[in-house]
Amino acid sequence: MEQVMRDFFLFLSKNKSLTKIAKKWGLHLGASRFVAGETIEMAVEKIKELNKSGLEVTIDYLGEFVDNEKEANEMAENSIMAIEAISQHNLKSQLSLKLTSMGMDLSEDVVMGNMRRILEAAESNSVFVTIDMEDYSHCQTTIDIFKKLRNEYQNVGTVIQAYLYRSEKDIESLHSLHPNLRLVKGAYKESPEVAFPEKKDVDDNFKKIIKTHLLNGNYTAVASHDEAIIEYTKQLVTEYNIPKDQFEFQMLYGIRNERQLELVKEGFKMRVYVPYGTDWYGYFMRRLAERPANVAFVLKGMFK
Ligand code: FDA
Repeated sequence: MEQVMRDFFLFLSKNKSLTKIAKKWGLHLGASRFVAGETIEMAVEKIKELNKSGLEVTIDYLGEFVDNEKEANEMAENSIMAIEAISQHNLKSQLSLKLTSMGMDLSEDVVMGNMRRILEAAESNSVFVTIDMEDYSHCQTTIDIFKKLRNEYQNVGTVIQAYLYRSEKDIESLHSLHPNLRLVKGAYKESPEVAFPEKKDVDDNFKKIIKTHLLNGNYTAVASHDEAIIEYTKQLVTEYNIPKDQFEFQMLYGIRNERQLELVKEGFKMRVYVPYGTDWYGYFMRRLAERPANVAFVLKGMFK
């Protein structure tokens, strides 16, 4: 049953018409639990609160189904505005973005042009930028673009998904760049030809890539709400004497808030992924797919 619901929400997340309708609705259906607001001003207020409680942030201007150059350039402009807001308000925040939003499906010129503009702005404001990883069909191009950009800029990292068979090879192939990588389980529906179908195998591979990247001496963001993964990381860093400034934990805004604060109290760096913007629908559906228990929460909110 859980798998059916998961597939259903992932199917909904890809629906372009529903995305357009949702944009007009505003933040409803309980989405405000996972999305900080529709404007940068709203997001800034939320980030100030999170920073005050010791949490660092990575901010993401939401945008899906970008299919022309004008939209891609607007997405880049909004990311630059977010960088300027981080600097202006002295926020402890990085930036996250998706290459499809920057025009990856349109042309290499568009996406590289937008990424260079963003990374220039980020560099002059000392902001770090993480390129999120999307579905498998975009994986190789994302890694190729990341490699090019990493050769030009220091302040850029990307994401590796433990559910993909290729992830261990990717970690090794990126090692010479000494990249700052966020490691995750993976949020998209992928075929068993490219991804582990069983949760246990994903978890085992997640542990394997965390260990490899950390022991390679590279900065590692362990992005997970899974207590077993958090505990594994804590034991690993103790066993191998890995300094606290070589890794951090990351979680999504609105998920396991208390645990986030506990990890800060335990002395770990904890970064919260804070999405904002009107294009919240696809992101929200992926969160429901991850944890069907969230659906009950959302339904309660709707009928309040
Ligand atoms: P999983 O979903 O397997 O949950 C394991 C356990 O965690 C649960 O059994 C429960 O115990 C606990 N848990 C989970 N949710 C909970 C809740 N709401 N309340 C209480 N306990 C809960 N994906 C991607 O493909 N590309 C990307 O770029 C990113 N980026 C990204 C950034 C950040 C900061 C995070 C945290 C995640 C991503 N992801 C992502 C999403 C990621 O791939 C994955 O889908 C989710 O993090 C869910 O996987 P978990 O590792 O959290 O564990």
